[in-house]
This record gives sequence, C-alpha cells and structure tokens, in this order.
Amino acid sequence: MYFLPEKLDHYIVAHSEQEPELLQELTRETYQKVLQPIMLSGPYQGRVLSMISKLINPKSVLELGTFTGYSTLCLAEGLSSDGVIHTIDINEELVDFQRKYFDRSKYGHQIIQHTGNAIDIIPTLHTMFDLVFIDADKPNYSNYFNAVIDKLEAGGIILSDNVLWHGKVVEKLKKKDISTKAVLDYNTLLKNDDRIETVVLPIRDGLTISRKK
Ligand SMILES: C[S@@+](CC[C@H](N)C(=O)[O-])C[C@H]1O[C@@H](n2cnc3c(N)ncnc32)[C@H](O)[C@@H]1O
Repeated sequence: MYFLPEKLDHYIVAHSEQEPELLQELTRETYQKVLQPIMLSGPYQGRVLSMISKLINPKSVLELGTFTGYSTLCLAEGLSSDGVIHTIDINEELVDFQRKYFDRSKYGHQIIQHTGNAIDIIPTLHTMFDLVFIDADKPNYSNYFNAVIDKLEAGGIILSDNVLWHGKVVEKLKKKDISTKAVLDYNTLLKNDDRIETVVLPIRDGLTISRKK
C-alpha cells in the first residue's frame, strides 16, 4: 500500500540510498523459497532502518521478528565495532537461511540468533539495549513494549513497524479484527506513556520512533 501518491513514492526511493547487492539477493531467495515474502522490510524502509541505526551507532540492538534477516542486516550497518544484535524469531525453519546471509555480510559475528517466542526469550536477555526494533506478531506489540522498556537505556530508541496497519487504524474497527485492535491499543499506549516521547512516521506501513527519556 502506498500512503503517498505512487509517483512521489518512486521519486523518494530513486533519490535515497541504493539497497546493497546482498540484500537484493536475500530478497530474491526469500521470494523463491519462503512463505509470505511480503513481510520483508524492503529496499526503502531498509535504508531508513540503516540510516537510523547509523545515527544511533548502537552497542546493543534487539530485534523482534527476524524473518529472513533483511532488517537485521540493515540495523547491523549502524552497529559500533564491538556492538551486537540479538534477533528473535519463533520460526525455526528460517534459522539456516538467516545465518547464511548473516555470514556472507561483515556483521555475521555480531548477530546472535534466538529461536522461540519473543515473550519468553526477552526476560532471558540480561543486557541493556540502545535500539529495539519491534516487528513480530501485532497482538503482542504492547506486551513486547512492556517487556523491553526496562531494558532500554535512557536515550534509547524503540522502532515499531506496521503501526498504520494498511491504513486500518483510521477505518471502522471490525469486531473480529484482533490485529487492528492490538495496533490501535499499542499506538495509544506509546502516545500516553510518560517514559518515552514518540513520533509516528508515514514510512511504508507506518514506523514509530519512541525515545526513552
Ligand atoms: C513481519 S516479519 C519480520 C520481518 C523482518 N523484520 C524484516 O524486516 O524482514 C514477522 C516475523 O515475526 C515472527 N514472529 C511471529 N510471532 C512471533 C513471536 N511470538 N516471537 C518471535 N517471533 C515471532 C514471524 O515468524 C515472522 O518471521
């Protein structure tokens, strides 16, 4: 879905950084071999994630929802030289695919994969984070926020993906639509939590930046 007129969207992409060759390859293989390739962050959002990570230059990153590793590699581009990314996905079938691409990048040794339910794994990570990217199952977004907020450094950033949920956040809510309800509740939670300041960006499906005070 385009939130901007398509022509303008193409113009923006054309005048932003190019997607690295390795990520183009990862995308091709994801489309050939993995269900729901549409879940990939994609070239433009990927460059946004890379840029934000470079601005922060984090030592420690947490990603919820690895999928085939696209956004992991984008976030890795900004890591400090001794930095690490912990990335969690519930789908064990993706682990080898992810590792293949992580090891082909220069960040392989800085990426720690975790397989399982993020809600169970987050409490086992005894470390503080400078940057958290939330991009797993929508119904758990608020739970993820509550699980990570005390593990975020002051000044640390939470990026939340799909917060406009294909525009459904401004449509009449259908009773059985638990994902839209979860995204609406999540957006309200971020707006009202005094520990953070939040800005929603209309990038792709909506990307929120929240900064811990
Ligand atoms: C939208 S995709 C992530 C896309 C990826 N961040 C990217 O940009 O390429 C969501 C991922 O979350 C994972 N996921 C869903 N529920 C989860 C859970 N409870 N714990 C951890 N991962 C989960 C799915 O297996 C899926 O790979």
